Amino acid sequence: MRPGFIRRLPALLALAGVMAAGQATADSILEFDIWMQKIDRHSQTILHALKRQDVDAAVADARELERLYGLMERFYEARGEHDDPLLLSWDGRQRAASAAVQARQGDFAGAFESAVGIARDCRACHDRFKPIKPQG
Ligand code: HEC
Repeated sequence: MRPGFIRRLPALLALAGVMAAGQATADSILEFDIWMQKIDRHSQTILHALKRQDVDAAVADARELERLYGLMERFYEARGEHDDPLLLSWDGRQRAASAAVQARQGDFAGAFESAVGIARDCRACHDRFKPIKPQG
């Protein structure tokens, strides 16, 4: 090890401590972005799956959207935001659940309506609640 590194070690350890303390919020917002990228993908692939009447693919997309909107719902709940972002997450989760049931029943038009409803609400949340504001 080079002497310069040893001399800087206390400062580096202090920096590591600061970074660890900030990690809890950074992690969940980083995760949120990953959920969003997946929501982005599945909200489109479900429409393609429904158009070609592929029940298995559509149900898989719907289930994944249901899970991701559930995660988002818990995220807003944990932040104590009980208004629109929580409701919009809840709505999306319900629509995804309906789309799964409808697709399995062969009601592709109904499932398509539910899935389009999810896509229609992206802007409603983004316009007002994007980006996530730091708390505290
Ligand atoms: C309930 C609120 C809400 C809904 C509904 C929502 N989003 Fe988001 N989305 C956000 C927020 C908040 C951010 C910004 C996150 C941040 O601050 O890092 C975001 C960010 C994104 C991003 C950027 C992610 C990144 O890597 O930076 C994409 C893409 C995205 N959303 C797509 C969608 C799509 C597509 C839909 C609908 C199918 C949707 N979102 C529905 C709240 C929402």
